[in-house]
Amino acid sequence: MDKRKIEIEYTVFENKEELVEEDRMLIEKAKEISVNAYIPYSAFRVGVAVLLDNDKILTANNQENASYPEGLCAERVALFYAMSQYPNQKIKSIAVYGNPQKFTLTHFISPCGGCRQVMYEYEYRHQSKMRILLSGNSGKILLVEGVENLLPLQFSAKDLSINE
Ligand code: THU
Repeated sequence: MDKRKIEIEYTVFENKEELVEEDRMLIEKAKEISVNAYIPYSAFRVGVAVLLDNDKILTANNQENASYPEGLCAERVALFYAMSQYPNQKIKSIAVYGNPQKFTLTHFISPCGGCRQVMYEYEYRHQSKMRILLSGNSGKILLVEGVENLLPLQFSAKDLSINE
């Protein structure tokens, strides 16, 4: 038996004044688009802004459905949209902004497991790590560099042995 540990790494910013301008702007775009979220069931608005290698920024938000499981998180709406428009562009950064209608977040938003998996798919596709900025309508901002820090022991195409 061999018990092992995996460490993850992230940076915490106390407020947006500590960020570089590009990150501050990306978070602002995520915040702006969060107000268009379609959230009749949860009232939990999430906005996402994706910055590509060609400096294009694509934004999106969560879309819910009366048949609950058919809704989709903002991260996946944004990533699928960005990758459908610019399939060959690496993703430099993705800002996720939690903006619930009825309360103030006490800490940054944390993407669900499904969205982490989708983020990793594009890192693997482009062989390029993305920067993930997590924040919300109050509190600190987290910067995670590389999806392995959100999703250790990832499943990817390499596990299907199709890219050899
Ligand atoms: N949601 C997101 O869009 N992104 C996250 O990172 C967490 C959760 C959405 C899904 C659903 O529409 C609502 O927030 C409540 O779970």
